Amino acid sequence: TVYRASTTAPVNIAVIKYWGKRDAALNLPTNSSLSVTLSQKSLKTHTTASCSASYTGADSLLLNDEPEDIQSNKRTQACLQLLKRFRHDIEVKNPSAPKLSTMPLKLVSINNFPTAAGLASSAAGFAALVRAIANLYELPHTPTQLSLVARQGSGSACRSLMGGYVAWRAGTARDGSDSIAEEIAPVSHWPNLKALILVVSADKKGVASTAGMQTTVETSTLFKTRAESIVPQRMEEMEAAIHAKDFAKFAEITMRDSNSFHATCLDSWPPIHYLNDVSRAAMNAVETCNRKAGKLIAAYTFDAGPNAVIYYEEENEKLVAGVFRYVLQQVKGWEGEYGAQIPSNEQ
Ligand code: DP6
Repeated sequence: TVYRASTTAPVNIAVIKYWGKRDAALNLPTNSSLSVTLSQKSLKTHTTASCSASYTGADSLLLNDEPEDIQSNKRTQACLQLLKRFRHDIEVKNPSAPKLSTMPLKLVSINNFPTAAGLASSAAGFAALVRAIANLYELPHTPTQLSLVARQGSGSACRSLMGGYVAWRAGTARDGSDSIAEEIAPVSHWPNLKALILVVSADKKGVASTAGMQTTVETSTLFKTRAESIVPQRMEEMEAAIHAKDFAKFAEITMRDSNSFHATCLDSWPPIHYLNDVSRAAMNAVETCNRKAGKLIAAYTFDAGPNAVIYYEEENEKLVAGVFRYVLQQVKGWEGEYGAQIPSNEQ
């Protein structure tokens, strides 16, 4: 018998950024973060997990048709060991349950967007992997409980197990038991919020986020203030802005938090530069939109790479799209867009 389960997981884009670990082994963050889950219509990872007593060899993963070395990947191993332990507990309680936890796993994942281009592929990737295996093992765990597992694959992945607006609470427990993600509002709460993804470069990014945040924690003089006082206050303000659907407040905090995160990168030593001239052209375009409208109707945010994500409300799409079409025509090095993604929790 071959046991099999498939699933998909979405990309999420943080509006309050996770940057810095207080425990690298357990992947625990120095600050809480908050993200919007994007629609799976254009950006997602599809993963099939299967296991069988007839499979031989070690657990394996094919990512976009290429074999990945998961044996030496500590993070993937951490996720697999936890999920197998959960399954083992079920098998101990119920002796007639098939012994799936002892069978080799075959995982097959496909991203429908460039891997490691700074488009949060690790978030969708680990979320899909954890959910596919949880489904295969028929685990009773809630998305929030599974977020503890996905977090150990990649921090941002814990926010991709739910739709809508998701907070990852940093927690204070040393074992990470309270470092979990929870949905603070479903997508239906603010259905006209949209995101436009501008792909400045589909190349692999310069400094990987794991290494970059370590350098920032160790060397940035601005970092401590950001993690200890700026972000906690912003988390509260952002949750209130989302609950009130206050776009101007949402936009201000989103842009200021992206700028604060990139400021700590620039303040690191050696300095880390994720933004480039095309990114800055996108920032200018957002400022043009907001000036034309006489209020904040668009917000930019950037992760660990030059690609921009622009949030806006559907009724302002014409103005935003018009400005971007015009500005980006003048800029070299711009590769395309992923269209408007309506945030969604289709799962
Ligand atoms: C800038 O989740 O990729 O996108 O936990 O080391 O895998 P690891 O880091 P990762 O970092 C994401 C950083 C960010 C901000 C965010 O998504 O909150």
